[in-house]
Amino acid sequence: MSRETLVAMTRNLVAHGAADTMEYADDVVRVPASAYTDPALFELEKKQIFRRLPLMVAPSCELPNPGDFKAMDICGVPLLLSRQKDGSMGAFLNMCTHRGNPLAAGCGNASRFTCGYHGWTFKADGDLIGVADAQDFGKIDKAKHCLTQFPVHENAGLIWVTLDPASKLDIADYLCGYDELLKAFEFEGWTLFAQRTLEGPNWKTAYDGYLDFYHLPVLHKDTFGADFYNRANYFAFGPHQRLSTPSRFAIKVSGEDDQQMDLSAMSDEELPQEVLVQGVWTIFPHISIASFYGGGQRGALISQLFPGADVGTSYTTQFYVMENQPETPEQVQAAHDQFNFLEIVVRDEDYATGKRQHEALQSGLMKEVLFGRNEKGGQVFHGWAERLVAASDEELVEIFAAEQRQAAE
Ligand code: FES
Ligand SMILES: [Fe+2]
Repeated sequence: MSRETLVAMTRNLVAHGAADTMEYADDVVRVPASAYTDPALFELEKKQIFRRLPLMVAPSCELPNPGDFKAMDICGVPLLLSRQKDGSMGAFLNMCTHRGNPLAAGCGNASRFTCGYHGWTFKADGDLIGVADAQDFGKIDKAKHCLTQFPVHENAGLIWVTLDPASKLDIADYLCGYDELLKAFEFEGWTLFAQRTLEGPNWKTAYDGYLDFYHLPVLHKDTFGADFYNRANYFAFGPHQRLSTPSRFAIKVSGEDDQQMDLSAMSDEELPQEVLVQGVWTIFPHISIASFYGGGQRGALISQLFPGADVGTSYTTQFYVMENQPETPEQVQAAHDQFNFLEIVVRDEDYATGKRQHEALQSGLMKEVLFGRNEKGGQVFHGWAERLVAASDEELVEIFAAEQRQAAE
């Protein structure tokens, strides 16, 4: 089923490429400039989107072994991810149940966590196992003071967590089958080569840049090149969107020589996996995934965006994951070169532009921004962001249950 869907998308891209056409949105869409600059809306987005929807918090390969943990702060919520003995993923509120001190910082490997304030100890599964000087503290029921758990979902080599312990939204419903398609990347067996965090502009300004190819040959003329094709077709699965270039051809990366493949001459079975996952895969509200080949090895850049401290800032962690760890010094260097190149593209071109754009929008003198018929990704993204911010908790569950019903029809 997943492969069928991937093949159908590829056939769509090939047909449009052969005909020199693309799919258009119905109309040009206007988004109020205040959607990027209003501090009250920004606070609401953190609450209604980031603290309520499932977020892709880490690639599985960042925490491969039992005991591996990572502490994060997302929109003011301290999160502790911890790989369990049975290989499943645990997601906990990173707060000691004594008086709330964060239990862990950074990342590492631990089978238990001892609080640095008064010394209470918790197992990696969140159980409270030791109250320091229990005879002096007084009687409490340890079973009632385990770490608070968040809903967690791991599939396709990616980990999602909902930062609301009481959430009724099923994470699989929310993903609308998209995680099954993402399996085609085969991240489950991949490794993490490197990661870094970049500062950026308003989170939606930053995310817009992952949702169109229109800007590629202009803003990225010095890096990707002025010949880069600027058309994309969009495939939506609920709020999650893949964008890819309509083209009859694809490049086969095979060691030394890159060869051009005519996809229209290939049967469905012959279409290689790397062709089926071409383009940019975004996961609402904050992830973008794209394939690269550092030193002839399959790799992908997973960009994870979060709102910053104020409406004009965000931060993005770039994970460079690879099918195989590069071995020779030349391969390692080639992978670093690829990853460093992507830092320059995003930091000095996309985000530098986004910051200038944000400052200008803050003048308040332009009321609306435009998304063309060729920029359907931005249209769909802003539509969903607005809709989900406004939805009540009950409506949220109903929206994704309806998406599931629709997909099943
Ligand atoms: S806050 Fe953790 S032991 Fe006191
Ligand atoms: Fe860009």
